[in-house]
Amino acid sequence: MKPLGIGLIGTGYMGKCHALAWNAVKTVFGDVERPRLVHLAEANAGLASARAAEFGFEKATADWRALIADPDVDVVSVTTPNQFHAEMAIAALQAGKHVWCEKPMAPAYADAERMLQIARQSGKVAVLGYNYIQNPIMRHIKTLIGEGAIGSVNHIRVEMDEDFMADPDVLFYWKSELSAGYGALDDFAVHPLSLLWYLFGHVEAVTTDMVKPYADRPLKEGGRRAVENHDAANVLMRLGGGISAVLMANRAAWGRKGRIALQIYGSKGSIVYDQERMNEFELYQAEGRGSEQGFRKILAAPAHQPYDRFIPAPGHGLGFNDLKIIECRELIRAISGEPASIVTFEDGLRIEKSVHAMAQSFHERRWIEIG
Ligand SMILES: NC(=O)c1ccc[n+]([C@@H]2O[C@H](COP(=O)([O-])OP(=O)(O)OC[C@H]3O[C@@H](n4cnc5c(N)ncnc54)[C@H](O)[C@@H]3O)[C@@H](O)[C@H]2O)c1
Repeated sequence: MKPLGIGLIGTGYMGKCHALAWNAVKTVFGDVERPRLVHLAEANAGLASARAAEFGFEKATADWRALIADPDVDVVSVTTPNQFHAEMAIAALQAGKHVWCEKPMAPAYADAERMLQIARQSGKVAVLGYNYIQNPIMRHIKTLIGEGAIGSVNHIRVEMDEDFMADPDVLFYWKSELSAGYGALDDFAVHPLSLLWYLFGHVEAVTTDMVKPYADRPLKEGGRRAVENHDAANVLMRLGGGISAVLMANRAAWGRKGRIALQIYGSKGSIVYDQERMNEFELYQAEGRGSEQGFRKILAAPAHQPYDRFIPAPGHGLGFNDLKIIECRELIRAISGEPASIVTFEDGLRIEKSVHAMAQSFHERRWIEIG
């Protein structure tokens, strides 16, 4: 396969993460052609040029449509705020490019549906940035559950918490706009939902409560603006196989920095994981003498592939950005027509459907069955 030509739209938190992944994927995995970093787009020309130089891209533009029209670009990374995803991803697919789009798909469900429709028509690979499923530890947890290591799973608790919105004096920015989505649901809940989907399948029914800790936030230019969405949510869920689950998401939880805590309870044991300690998980198996039963802490190691592609030594640990490098490798696998561990627009849309059902259940104060 010839080297893939890469276009990157947006260079904030996630833009840099994608750039690191495109730069590192060959070094880490070896078995791919080194991607060619062709074109980068930002909101203004000065920032675009500066970032292109830093990230190693050949061309820079303030017009993302010029990037999409570039014949040397084969794959477009869309890392802009949520409200731009649909327009940019659809334009890229229609121009015959593969797309790696950050989550969520789009604030409006109709836009997300259209993204899937265009992806199907294009025949191109369209992948969402649900990087947490890529943790080698998570892959191992999936294997353990499949092998019946904790028996038949019946109850799950999953939490996603951070504190970047915890301070009432945090300036108003796009994440508090309704045009960016429901807040805790599409900003946060989608990540735990991607893990639940990866391990157990899609959610079947939901009922939700949400809270807006602060009514308004200060504006950079002075004055205040009303917060339009909810920073925290609690959701009761039903999954297939009679599994009952609870999901809690909060972007205003002081002290929580990157918590995605998963507790999985089965008939023969339990598994506990937290993204804040992403290089370990705990396994409890109800076997042997009661006097020695207890959780075992298992550290990430080369046995949990593809950890071995990064470091030969166990217990040294991977980082958040490494998950994106693994996701990048999986995307290239999909482009090559090989089986890949990715969240396609198809599964992404079902995750979005769950999120919209959660919002609907909150507004209508009732359980919603998700078809
Ligand atoms: N997968 C994850 O773990 C994860 C983590 C954080 C954010 N995200 C997602 O990534 C996306 C971006 O979030 P972020 O935190 O990186 O935001 P950010 O604000 O840090 O970066 C967004 C960038 O897009 C640029 N941009 C805006 N409009 C543009 C335009 N018209 N053309 C070109 N560039 C433009 C901005 O200038 C900015 O540099 C969001 O959809 C978010 O949900 C995913």
